[in-house]
Amino acid sequence: MPERTRVAIIGAGPAGLLLSHLLDQRGIASVVLDSRTLEEIETTIRAGILEQGTVEILHETKASDRVLTVGQRHEGIELRFDGEGHRIDFADTVGRAVWLYPQHEVLKDLVAARLAAGQDLRFGVRAERVEDADSIRPRVIAKDSDGNTLQIQADVVVGADGSRSVVREAVSGTSGGHFREYPFAWFGILCEAPPSAQELIYSNSPNGFALISQRSPEVQRMYFQCDPETDTEAYTEGQLWEILQSRVPGTTLKEGPIFQRDVLRFRSFVAHEMRRGRVVLVGDAAHTVPPTGAKGMNLAVADVVLLTDALHALLLDNDETLFDAFPDTARRRIWKAQHFSWWMTNMLHLQPEANGFDRMRQIGELRSVVESTAGRAYLSEAYTGWPLRC
Ligand code: DHB
Repeated sequence: MPERTRVAIIGAGPAGLLLSHLLDQRGIASVVLDSRTLEEIETTIRAGILEQGTVEILHETKASDRVLTVGQRHEGIELRFDGEGHRIDFADTVGRAVWLYPQHEVLKDLVAARLAAGQDLRFGVRAERVEDADSIRPRVIAKDSDGNTLQIQADVVVGADGSRSVVREAVSGTSGGHFREYPFAWFGILCEAPPSAQELIYSNSPNGFALISQRSPEVQRMYFQCDPETDTEAYTEGQLWEILQSRVPGTTLKEGPIFQRDVLRFRSFVAHEMRRGRVVLVGDAAHTVPPTGAKGMNLAVADVVLLTDALHALLLDNDETLFDAFPDTARRRIWKAQHFSWWMTNMLHLQPEANGFDRMRQIGELRSVVESTAGRAYLSEAYTGWPLRC
């Protein structure tokens, strides 16, 4: 006999956990499954920037207090190119801000909030497939870590299971999605050092892009553009500092021991289908952005806020309108974020094939942004995030 719940959520990442949290506040029960262990989930590396709307929803719904006590409010970023830094002032242009708060900390806060609320949250349970997507009782077939098969029947199944989503198969079959790859990646490091600047620096240099980000007063996060095939052990610590220093002309970065390295692939993806019957996709299962601008998790949060309203109307008021409209409504923001991430990526990175014209045009583009009130305002608006539910 299958188990029963109202909403079966596959994936205990930020999207799945936040959805279970918001549904609980509306009195809607859910079960959350994830094939990973809690430790694997909490140590997944993510970006460090939260949009203002993300912070508001986490705080207002009591999913995280620490976001405001530990997180740091940033009212601007610096774009550096052609030997000069240019501050984009969010407060001045759009009156909004972002918070530097590592996203795996958001995840820890969400796990703690869900466990405290008695959420049915199962780690080490791998969803294998979803059946009967077109009926009003879709079913998840899953296997636990002992190899036992379980079946969960729900009113709605949500795929919040990341870019290698299993649920996507039930939603879109072989229909795939819009896809783009980029000829570069980011080499990311974490180091023990004080911050090199008060705000983040996005630097377009003749040797390629670098991003100087932060984690805490003692730990810094930095990235530099590299070939996607680069091995994390390809460089000595001395070589890594030499590359990073050369990518941020005008600033001497504060160096310290590097204790973590990773290479991040760049992809843009939007699934053709986000819903089939009573099965829906949210977050990375439905779309992926390249990391420049840190939109990934913020976009997942926006999907979840919309879906919560839609599930409330469907399951408590018997009104299907918002649920039917969910993919089209979500796609409006998804494509704006896709554009922003693509634009920031292309404006700041050095294309392997770039010639003199391409390089000078890029500087012209950067200048048109920083020297224009409208240009700075667009960047600020997109970076700090458009209002949720629009
Ligand atoms: C970080 C990552 C990003 O992609 C970005 O645009 C800003 C910050 C980070 O990991 O800190």
